Amino acid sequence: MPVCLSKSAKRTESKTKVKLTRCGKITLGILMTVIAALLVGLVVYFAAYGKIPFYYHVSFKVNSINYDEKFAKPYSKEYMDLNKKIVSLINKTFHESRLRRQYVTSHVVQVSRANGKVVIHVVLKFKSCCKNNAAKFWDRIETILRQKLTGQIGSLLIDASSFKFSDIAMPIAENLLHTCCGQRTITPSGNKIAGGQDAEEGEWPWQASLQQNNVHRCGATLISNHWLVTAAHCFIKANDPKEWNVTFGLLLSDPKTQRAVKNIIIHENYHYPAHDNDIAVVHLASPVLYTSNIRRACLPETNHTFPPSSDVVVTGWGTLRTDGKIPNILQKASVKIIDNKTCNSGKVYGGVVTPGMLCAGFLRGHVDACQGDSGGPLVSADDKGTWFLVGIVSWGDECALPNKPGVYTRVTYYRDWIMSKTGL
Ligand code: ARG
Repeated sequence: MPVCLSKSAKRTESKTKVKLTRCGKITLGILMTVIAALLVGLVVYFAAYGKIPFYYHVSFKVNSINYDEKFAKPYSKEYMDLNKKIVSLINKTFHESRLRRQYVTSHVVQVSRANGKVVIHVVLKFKSCCKNNAAKFWDRIETILRQKLTGQIGSLLIDASSFKFSDIAMPIAENLLHTCCGQRTITPSGNKIAGGQDAEEGEWPWQASLQQNNVHRCGATLISNHWLVTAAHCFIKANDPKEWNVTFGLLLSDPKTQRAVKNIIIHENYHYPAHDNDIAVVHLASPVLYTSNIRRACLPETNHTFPPSSDVVVTGWGTLRTDGKIPNILQKASVKIIDNKTCNSGKVYGGVVTPGMLCAGFLRGHVDACQGDSGGPLVSADDKGTWFLVGIVSWGDECALPNKPGVYTRVTYYRDWIMSKTGL
């Protein structure tokens, strides 16, 4: 640049202007070339490390861990601790390898038994450019795992001769990678239920729409690949499973997955018009495959407490106001738990809220669930970002009125009932 200026400084003012412009053009040219080169670089980068996912199933025996029946339950503490250990080991292995850019994730999908020891089955996900690279990829992965994961690593003694590798199809692999409860793949940007906001795809992956003859009637929450929980009152007028189906996905108009219903189990002590025991479980005719957008929520144990004033979120396709319209896009609203004592006070619900119910919302009103949200989830995230089902949308005096918060079926109160019907 100084060269340009010193040259043009000798000329007349107008010529200087021309010279500067030319100089500008050169600079612009260089700039454009650099931008073009950057763009080409980016395209090449994405082509090389682009979007095609590859999945591998790997199993190996760990001689330092004795098999325990608890490993048969994928959500036991033993299983989860082992999963954590193995996943962090595999993460470290690949992050320090030349496949660090292609490695995406891994998950322990099964723990089986061999000679009293454990055999760990892991699904690994990679991303690469092109299908014809698969064989080369396979070799590299095998080599890295065999080199880095044999012998004594920390407390793990891995049997070198036990390694088995196999290919696995994408939907099956994705299903296995997304079986954990209460997790979501996306973290949303921002907060209509009454006073809510549009949700995003994958933000509330356990939310389902319960439909009677393909018309949305209620919300429901996925708690396993076969089971949903919802409200008993959704079935007051119709309880024949043949009339019902379940859809998943952000938009009612464009469901990502649909399932027929095999069975509806309504709480034995639900007696309309009383609101007590407003809970039912729905058994799907065939299981759903988990994806990044369809996942289950965690069920809290009986002794799990959700303290008053804690933040919870209610989601659904219910009306945006009392007697309003049903939205096409799933809505979310942040509310707070209100303790039963406050909720039973004279100016609120005056004593009709029983221990199996829980209130959430604001005494000033404005934000609430509404008609059509019934049966849907009220969820709470723990400090690790795992989402638990706290309540089931049940009833309220109109919607979003002051001193009339939403009333929900208290899930911890019915935890044993859910277990007795679903085995979960
Ligand atoms: N019973 C309503 C339904 O069937 C849900 C009511 C929830 N009301 C409320 N204000 N939170 O959809």
